[in-house]
Amino acid sequence: MVRGVGSENVRKILILQVENIHSMINKRFAIIGGGNLGLAIAEGLIKTEKISNQNITITRRKTHLISHLNDKGVHVLTDNVSAVNGADIVLLVVKPYQLADILLEIKPYLKPELIIVSMVAGFSLSSIEAIIGDKIPLFRGMPNTAIALCESMTCLAYEKKWESRKNEVFEIFNLLGKSVVITEELMASATVLGACGIAFALRFMRAAMQGGIEIGFAADMAQFITAQTMKGASELILQSNHHPEQEIDKVTTPRGITISGLNEMEHQGFSSSLIQGLITSFSKIDKKDK
Ligand SMILES: NC(=O)c1ccc[n+]([C@@H]2O[C@H](COP(=O)([O-])OP(=O)(O)OC[C@H]3O[C@@H](n4cnc5c(N)ncnc54)[C@H](OP(=O)(O)O)[C@@H]3O)[C@@H](O)[C@H]2O)c1
Repeated sequence: MVRGVGSENVRKILILQVENIHSMINKRFAIIGGGNLGLAIAEGLIKTEKISNQNITITRRKTHLISHLNDKGVHVLTDNVSAVNGADIVLLVVKPYQLADILLEIKPYLKPELIIVSMVAGFSLSSIEAIIGDKIPLFRGMPNTAIALCESMTCLAYEKKWESRKNEVFEIFNLLGKSVVITEELMASATVLGACGIAFALRFMRAAMQGGIEIGFAADMAQFITAQTMKGASELILQSNHHPEQEIDKVTTPRGITISGLNEMEHQGFSSSLIQGLITSFSKIDKKDK
């Protein structure tokens, strides 16, 4: 498995995406757990327009909360067994404490032809195998809620024995954003940096907006300017692969206003507070069962 992912690996992943798009059309998906992330995945799959909506089934007990998906042709069920029975790809998207019971429920209906991808934080591949056995292709995925817009960053981990099924999983998550393979040991770190990262970035956005309002913009204008600026900053890095400081150097004139603002932020603990926040989130994850 690849630990760090360079631009060459990213390019290979994108080529894979283009080559395999056509085989996606007939895949049938079962999303077990239609909460925040499960719903976002369903929305992302619909948005790809590469998968028939009728091939998507999503389950939860309070189905009325996602019944609007019925109007798009998605099957909304309470019955996990029915969902799994017709599926090629089973996506597990429930809370960690809910997973064991669900695995026991669906275990008799799992066939080696299908693929399971668990998004459940803190529940290891070996813990899942301990319940369902080691004959079902099994992957872990850590996406984020931008999956609804096909802009997820998804970190994937799997055991070597499932290498032959890897491309099928990449195919899905490259339609839903970008994906990389990591060792399972890094799953907790991926949860913090990628999944929690959405909230961290949005809190930065809120703070910038509040500053923007204080210096004269109406809230909606401050939001628009901040969001598009963050998107532009991300693209500068994603498209060039430059270190952020390289792009910052282009904006910071000697004795200028940008460097004054940046230095004041650092005096107030900006980078330090972000790093401490990440480490605090990481320290709260149960490391017994990464
Ligand atoms: N949210 C994120 O950004 C994010 C990102 C990466 C990974 N994750 C992981 O994804 C998992 C889900 O997170 P979440 O934020 O989406 O939680 P959530 O909103 O609570 O969603 C979990 C859903 O599972 C459903 N559920 C519970 N028992 C079920 C059962 N027996 N059969 C079918 N559905 C059942 C619940 O709906 P009912 O009560 O109606 O059944 C609930 O909507 C967690 O393990 C989390 O670690 C989340």
